[in-house]
Amino acid sequence: MTDPAPQATASYLADPADVGRVLLLYSGGLDTSVMLKWIQDRYEAEVVALTVNLGQPGEDYELVKGKAIQLGAVEAHVIDAREQFAHEYVLRAIKANAIYGLGYPLFTALGRPLIAELAVRQALASGCDTIAHGCTGKGNDQVRIEATIATLATELKVIAPVRSWRMGREEEVAYAREHGIPLKGGSEVTPYSIDDNLWGRSSEGRWIEQLDHPPEDDVFQLVGSPEDAPDEPEVVTVEFERGVPVALNGERLGLVELIERAAEIGARHGVGIVDHIEDRVVGLKVRDIYEVPAAAILLPAHQELEFLVSTSHQNQLKPTLDSKWAYLVYAGLWWEPLRTDLDAYMDAANAQVTGTVGLRLYKGSVRTVTRSSPNAVYDAQLAGFAESGGLFSQAASPGFIELWSLQSRMAWRLRQSTEG
Ligand code: ARG
Repeated sequence: MTDPAPQATASYLADPADVGRVLLLYSGGLDTSVMLKWIQDRYEAEVVALTVNLGQPGEDYELVKGKAIQLGAVEAHVIDAREQFAHEYVLRAIKANAIYGLGYPLFTALGRPLIAELAVRQALASGCDTIAHGCTGKGNDQVRIEATIATLATELKVIAPVRSWRMGREEEVAYAREHGIPLKGGSEVTPYSIDDNLWGRSSEGRWIEQLDHPPEDDVFQLVGSPEDAPDEPEVVTVEFERGVPVALNGERLGLVELIERAAEIGARHGVGIVDHIEDRVVGLKVRDIYEVPAAAILLPAHQELEFLVSTSHQNQLKPTLDSKWAYLVYAGLWWEPLRTDLDAYMDAANAQVTGTVGLRLYKGSVRTVTRSSPNAVYDAQLAGFAESGGLFSQAASPGFIELWSLQSRMAWRLRQSTEG
């Protein structure tokens, strides 16, 4: 259990000899609990534990804090960052219609830079020289966390024991037993690897790695089974002001509460289950099971409204910028200036995104059924089939068509003659 020579691979990795006081990103789970002890043993270092509340459902933060102290942390902090997460991260993702790949709304990717930023602040405030996290060497989370630390505080070093200690799950459990680390719910069944926050929940590991294995029921802890959802559909309305969701079913709510409420409604209707194959930034493909009931409602509602108030030219450009935004965030480059530049465009585009969208939820499906906006680039009279208005002359259309198709017709004929 020796570290590989860390200086050889990256400037920000800690030299074990220089580790004196470590800020540990502590979730209370097996990995980070073992780390809490292991860091004290291995480095003879003090550990300051930090747990960040991003709205993980059902978490008891006082319990986590108590556990950290019990395992020898010299300080244990819990930061409630839900408001900041909702307003500065999730809201930006909504404005950017942020989806990576075939349906991942990026909740973990959005959370990591904030968690890492808070770790940097707490590390500096608590006099730590090093930050420790529990990411493995196979995932995106290490990239997001370490890129953030290396960006924000060059004086802080990083250790990632799970990446270097080469303990398997069983060895960790054995280590935990040996060091009196309490294990949740027995240890016979290897748990899924879970990450969750306000914006969603992911599960990895176990049978999920077998691509031909359909999801087992026990993986779903947030979204109810679509089959068991109510037999009656429900229409939920989402109101936006300048791209910000402000009311649900007519009730004005703060963003955190609105997201939580949307998640409850979606979960009840079995909405937001995503079985996702993903191209990780580190190259591997992986399968994730996502439960994203709030995103499954708020993202399509936003996108519908944005589409309605934007011109066709804006509507052609926006998705390309959206996907660039999503990729930067997915790939751990939250601090990349292009992301903030893109956000400026997102804000400009969203200045018009005011109005209300109604979505019909039914046994796992979400479908937009109503839209209204004072900024809709839509005129019912012009668009209507009734012979009305005389606001423009339909007789003018052929002239338009002749010019519109001019080059295409010419080019087509040229091809015919060269091919023939
Ligand atoms: N694959 C997703 C991502 O890269 C989710 C990762 C979840 N993280 C975890 N430690 N279980 O964003």
